[in-house]
Amino acid sequence: MTFSVQLELTATRKKSNIILALDFPFEKAEQRRQLLSTAQRVLGAAYPFLCAVKINHHLTLPLGLFDGVQSLVQKAHDLGLLAIMDCKVNDIGATNQVIAEYYYSAGFDALIANPFIGWEEGLKPIFDVAGRTQRGVILLVYMSHKGALEGYGQTVVDAETGEKTPQYITFAKKALQYKAGGAIVGATYPEKIREIHHILKEKVPIISPGIGAQGGEVEAAIKAGARYLIVGRAVAQAADPAAAAKAFRDSAKQAL
Ligand code: XMP
Repeated sequence: MTFSVQLELTATRKKSNIILALDFPFEKAEQRRQLLSTAQRVLGAAYPFLCAVKINHHLTLPLGLFDGVQSLVQKAHDLGLLAIMDCKVNDIGATNQVIAEYYYSAGFDALIANPFIGWEEGLKPIFDVAGRTQRGVILLVYMSHKGALEGYGQTVVDAETGEKTPQYITFAKKALQYKAGGAIVGATYPEKIREIHHILKEKVPIISPGIGAQGGEVEAAIKAGARYLIVGRAVAQAADPAAAAKAFRDSAKQAL
């Protein structure tokens, strides 16, 4: 079963399309191990309102992949959730292959990669490992931050057609062509979600970060075509993560 089908089934079963980014602020040395129990507590509280968790350098750097993060991936699975690694792989193929092997070995169901690196000796080795281990590759198509315009938003000459196209349109077409497990489009740009959804339709789901702390809104993102919403600080660092996750889940349900 492909990652996108697994995510769809999980979202249906959990009645939630919210992906929690387990992100916490920088901690000095003596506090770092506590990040594991903090992450476990937040996950344990918010999981009824989620379909997946997303882990980033916030946890892999201080805890280590096999010494701490792997146990969180296991906990997510035990709670019936999928686990996504937000590593934005962006290197040469030989390195990408090793990165993918490690993250998938730790149990991640999908990882995020950057299509700027191209296919041959770039993305292909990641998709090869994903295919062999039956995991997903999610591609960045338009990021959620302001500077996204400078890269994802630039106008490029399409290498195949010679046509002038926005970079993110070529990335959306590649997501389709490579059968990516998802396409990341910032919730902060609903008009881009709409345009990209027009290309991807229901074949590659749009996964949208930037809800809450970055100013993206649930209803606008969903109405534009986002299938899943990533929420980080607004849940992980809330006084009551379960209540915050439930509130996002409920507004997403209402908007669908
Ligand atoms: P917040 O706290 O802003 O956290 O809700 C968002 C999480 O998602 C990551 N992020 C992105 N990841 N493409 C990605 O792959 C993006 O465009 C993007 N924007 C935000 C961010 O690092 C954090 O973990």
